Amino acid sequence: MKFIELANLRQSVRRYTDKLVEPEKIDNCIEAARIAPSASNAQPWKYIVIDNPEIKNKIADVTFDKLMSFNKFVPQAPVIIVLIAERPNFKSQIGGWLKNKEFNLIDIGISAEHFCLQAAEEGLGTCMLGWYNERKVKQILEIPKNKRPVLLISLGYAEKEYKQRTKIRKSKENIVCYNKYSFK
Ligand SMILES: Cc1cc2nc3c(=O)[nH]c(=O)nc-3n(C[C@H](O)[C@H](O)[C@H](O)COP(=O)(O)O)c2cc1C
Repeated sequence: MKFIELANLRQSVRRYTDKLVEPEKIDNCIEAARIAPSASNAQPWKYIVIDNPEIKNKIADVTFDKLMSFNKFVPQAPVIIVLIAERPNFKSQIGGWLKNKEFNLIDIGISAEHFCLQAAEEGLGTCMLGWYNERKVKQILEIPKNKRPVLLISLGYAEKEYKQRTKIRKSKENIVCYNKYSFK
């Protein structure tokens, strides 16, 4: 598969079957995430794989409520991945401070996308989740006070009838300009 085909194939999947995900496929996704680039090679991430149904259901339950009802699909997913922002190395911390940049969040986003692209290649569906009750996620997973679960990813097999959607994106003209900033 060409990279552009894989990038198109990956889409947020919000309907899953109850088929379990093979551990080796999860491992391949973790490997893809592991080799992602990061500022000063800090790799400021930890992946918690939640495949225990009881714990997974507890986490799924705190990804939606009346306000965030759009995440009601999450309990269908047999696996949830929780990304923890780990303290970056000294060089990345200093660089981020001097340049006023959240390198660690940029790094985690790249790694998470590596994970999702590998999942797509494995025939799996994912959905990154930014809306959930962080306090409760920390409580359930015994995450230390000074660390944050910054992103969740639902993982599983998409329902058979789940269609490949055409990507709704800004046009190229809208997102690119050459040689200087353009308001076009
Ligand atoms: C950081 C981040 C947080 C997101 N949070 C949620 C979420 O809480 N619930 C959800 O259903 N989708 C969530 N999404 C998925 C986006 O809505 C989705 O990626 C976007 O609409 C583009 O669609 P596609 O992923 O199918 O290409 C999130 C995506 C990102 C990158």
